[in-house]
Amino acid sequence: MSETFPWGWFGVGFTRDIPARAAMAATVNGRELAVYRAASGSIVALDAHCPHLGAHMGHGGTVEGDELRCQFHGFCFDPSGQCTRTGYGKRVPPKAVVRAYPATDIGGVIAVWFDPEGRPPVWTPTFPDTDGWSDPRGGLWTFAGRPQEVAENSVDLGHLSVVHGYTDARVHGEVHFDGATIRGELRFSRPAPLFGRRGPLIESQARFTQHGLGLAVVETVTPALGLDSRFVVATTALDADTVALRTTASMRSLRHHRALRSIGALLPTRLLDAVTLRSMQMSFEADVAQDVPIWSHKRALGRPALAEGDGPLGKYRAWAQRFYAAPRTGLPIVHEA
Ligand code: FES
Ligand SMILES: [Fe+2]
Repeated sequence: MSETFPWGWFGVGFTRDIPARAAMAATVNGRELAVYRAASGSIVALDAHCPHLGAHMGHGGTVEGDELRCQFHGFCFDPSGQCTRTGYGKRVPPKAVVRAYPATDIGGVIAVWFDPEGRPPVWTPTFPDTDGWSDPRGGLWTFAGRPQEVAENSVDLGHLSVVHGYTDARVHGEVHFDGATIRGELRFSRPAPLFGRRGPLIESQARFTQHGLGLAVVETVTPALGLDSRFVVATTALDADTVALRTTASMRSLRHHRALRSIGALLPTRLLDAVTLRSMQMSFEADVAQDVPIWSHKRALGRPALAEGDGPLGKYRAWAQRFYAAPRTGLPIVHEA
């Protein structure tokens, strides 16, 4: 049982970076993976090192149908991690098997299920329908820290004004801690995204779902701009002290939005969408860039001096403990079909 690495879903790469007919290298909570897209379309994540003589299949393994072929001696592995044939046409050695990790796409991020003991998922994160939405655009940061510290940001109300300059940040309704997820809605005003410049203050409503410690989906509505956007914040531990943070941003097409269409009347909708998305992504990534130096140097305090106005940090920390514990308690046990 690892005390260092929590179990749950973690973001290990961008879906669009998976090469055609080859595997890519990724890391989930200190474990090296070879990730590929099977001919069936599904994303497969296997332990990276071939059990034959240890080649890293994320650096040269190729895809044959649904299988991954090791570049060293041609052993092939199916999506369950079982070796199906050797490169010599001989009997498959019984030990030629690698661990497979459930994997899925969440808003352009490759989300991988990790459990230190190899247990199957107890829940599966979801992402809303993407019809009429832009392709997600991503950003990546690597720094000293742990997924739990990053996820705490979701409920850290106090820093929104101090770090990000939001005004009137508040929780709308209740924050629900429910099994493996936290759901809530934040409302705040912030300068309109204008390519890194501060525009006029506008109100946004951000519904967030924190899926365990590794994955958050934020759906934001900015009524004054008619802008619906989505953000994914995904982490994975590269080792015990280093975290990789990936974000994606996407938005609903402005096609039907009259106010913005009139401002951008001279621009084709597709260009207006691209310009707006770029601007929104820059503004979101500027927020993350404000958090990163703090995460990089902060210390995880066991006994923080919590204050009124913090948001439900105490509750978050108690909830977070379940992802290090065995047996897994307080969670809906929903095995995938
Ligand atoms: S190391 Fe992979 S086939 Fe030999
Ligand atoms: Fe933040």
